[in-house]
Amino acid sequence: MAFNVQEIRKDFPILQREVNGKPLVYLDNAATSQKPQQVIDCIVDYYSNYNANIHRGVHTLSQEATDAYEAARKKIQQHFNITKPHEVIFTSGTTHGINLVANGFTKFLSKGDEVIVSALEHHSNIVPWQMLCERTGAILKVIPIEENGELILSEYEKILSEKTKLVFVNHISNALGIINPIKEIIDKAHKNGAAVLVDGAQACSHIKSNLQALDVDFYVTSAHKMCGPTGVGILYGKEEWLNKLPPYQGGGEMIDEVTFEKTTYAGLPHKFEAGTPNIAGGIAFGAAIDYLNSIGFDAIESHENNLLAYATEQLTAIEGLKIYGTGVAKTSVISFNIEGIHPYDIGTIVDKLGIAVRTGHHCAQPIMDFYKIPGTVRASFAFYNTKEEVDALVSAVNKAKTMLT
Ligand code: ALA
Repeated sequence: MAFNVQEIRKDFPILQREVNGKPLVYLDNAATSQKPQQVIDCIVDYYSNYNANIHRGVHTLSQEATDAYEAARKKIQQHFNITKPHEVIFTSGTTHGINLVANGFTKFLSKGDEVIVSALEHHSNIVPWQMLCERTGAILKVIPIEENGELILSEYEKILSEKTKLVFVNHISNALGIINPIKEIIDKAHKNGAAVLVDGAQACSHIKSNLQALDVDFYVTSAHKMCGPTGVGILYGKEEWLNKLPPYQGGGEMIDEVTFEKTTYAGLPHKFEAGTPNIAGGIAFGAAIDYLNSIGFDAIESHENNLLAYATEQLTAIEGLKIYGTGVAKTSVISFNIEGIHPYDIGTIVDKLGIAVRTGHHCAQPIMDFYKIPGTVRASFAFYNTKEEVDALVSAVNKAKTMLT
């Protein structure tokens, strides 16, 4: 089907609403995406027609819910080209997946071992590893960035050594939109015997990742960034790693046998899925993946790249406006400031005009420290945004500039 943005917008009820008396222009997609009717219907259908706990009952509703949940796991497996369905662990989101792995690595690290993080990370891909280093005495090293926001790979090579046990890097920077050369990072880490975790939270709505081709050890993401609900995500791990990692949480569903003397654990994926999960969320994650694939990732990428190029050109024309993250490989995220104006003030004025952008440090304070700024205004575009919405943003930013200078 040909890509028709006006037809696509009809799938998103929220895009029809007004904010402050103006049509909503939603440009905060990096924080969370909007949900199409198909995903909303899927959640309503589950609670209206087959709400039951999964993997637990022989009754019909429980079987229907279990089948739908496991079918969603298979959809996710196929979408990311993952070898086996049990390598897909349902989590509450990216942060949960990272903490699960960081917690498990306590067992594998000793004093003096090294782990590497990139300077472009979200706090969720920094803090759990700092906590891991505190527990184990391992040392955290950082891949620095160039002024344009690209990682300096020659510096990465210098800090990689036989002491490196784990490298963690995001696929796409949430704060700047820079796409990292993760294949190169993974290959170099593997040559040194280190495992790699990739935070795919920002990538999954823009790019269809092939995890077998990447040969990544762990990949984490959240459904809500890709038109699915909040509170659900996945951890992909290679089977050999997931078998070695200890369980993260104890509880129902993750056990094989429990006595007061000893408990044995269930196999994958249940070993990491203690407690009643977000059943509706998992099923709706599958529906979101179906929805995105019905549009097609080639069409999504091409439309978003056009929006990025157009918005970059229009915003750059505003005197005093500086864009952060000007590297070559970028997705549809633009972080900027106007000289002498606090980002929060711009965000507040454009909101009055119906435009939603994020302002602040975007949970990536080290990037803001690098640029010596308190934060940025971030406009992040999705496939349902239009050129007219870019025009509305540019006009609102111009208005804000006039009011604030
Ligand atoms: N990680 C989300 C963002 O970048 C919340 O806004």
